[in-house]
Amino acid sequence: MKAGAVFPGKRKIEVVALDEPRITAPTEVKLRMLEVGVCGTDREIASFHHGTPPEGFEFLVLGHEALGEVVETGPAVSRFQEGDLVVPMVRRPCPHPECAACRAERQDFCYTDDFRERGIKQQHGFMTGFVVDDEQYLNAVPRDLRAVAVLVEPLTIAEKALIQIYAIQQRLPWSSASPGKPHGRRAVVLGAGPVGLLGAMALVNAGFETFVYSREGTPNPRAALAAAFGARYFCSATVNAGQLASEVGNIDVVYEAAGATQTAFELLEVLGTDAVYCFTGVPRHGEPISIDAHSLLYHLVLKNQVILGTVNAGKDAFEAAIRDLGLFYRRWPDAVSALITGRYPIEEFLEPVFDRSGIKNIIVLDGRS
Ligand code: BGC
Ligand code: ZN
Repeated sequence: MKAGAVFPGKRKIEVVALDEPRITAPTEVKLRMLEVGVCGTDREIASFHHGTPPEGFEFLVLGHEALGEVVETGPAVSRFQEGDLVVPMVRRPCPHPECAACRAERQDFCYTDDFRERGIKQQHGFMTGFVVDDEQYLNAVPRDLRAVAVLVEPLTIAEKALIQIYAIQQRLPWSSASPGKPHGRRAVVLGAGPVGLLGAMALVNAGFETFVYSREGTPNPRAALAAAFGARYFCSATVNAGQLASEVGNIDVVYEAAGATQTAFELLEVLGTDAVYCFTGVPRHGEPISIDAHSLLYHLVLKNQVILGTVNAGKDAFEAAIRDLGLFYRRWPDAVSALITGRYPIEEFLEPVFDRSGIKNIIVLDGRS
């Protein structure tokens, strides 16, 4: 079977031929891969800035945003049967007994950094014909989400962020999800990529007045999409952070999904009272930038602000993502479908990795690849 592989040592990227994997443990499941999404992380790996092959391999198979179909189950598998659609989790626990997070099946909070990530860090990814994985890392997806379920993994990033934002907002007992109680419910989403737009959908769905703030000028397809599901779009090149804040009112939540340090800090300067700012974008290393640290700290304290970073996702976020993607798809079928802008065969997997014009580009696998 074919696989999309990156050779960091040789600085080479190509389609390789691999043997089909076999079930070797009773709780394992064999999947025929259907689709794999590509994102900025894949671009970083394919630019040799990130990504580590598994031990004993010169290459890493890409692909962490995946949708597969069960073709075979080990004798002790209880939750899956042939034909089920599944989305696998990305991260695998570290081996250290003292890592409370991994031992509690919360490797997304791993303390040791010795976790592995499929398609990213020391474990092959899903951009291939067949994959074997333990059932504990698989999540069942309803059939009616077949066309869009490849969006589950990017949505989990937003879901993990929102779970934490909602937990922090519990300190504001007057801010509840019920309509008509606006306090705490104005959110700015920084970035209009898939993680930004899916997060914006989740915020709209949770009753937030939601503003998407991104660099592309209007009109553009991302802005049109945001409008279609009830968010307002502002272009960061023409509307500065101060102007955005006067449109929004008290910015209660910032959900950052752009990895653009400068704009992120400009937005931090106008963060509202009792607000939460959540970073999900991984910035590229760049020149140092200057910020007014005195004023940031002053506001952080005097305005009860919380700043948090978040990465990867646990089982709770996968379950929330599958549930919410179903809700979004029923509420805004066209907007959800429009997030997937390009489909490529595995032979052309590099094109969507480096072409940044679409929103979510995917590799369509056929099992025989
Ligand atoms: C993935 C996460 C992963 C992170 C860092 C992201 O693209 O969605 O699951 O933890 O990259 O490697
Ligand atoms: Zn990704």
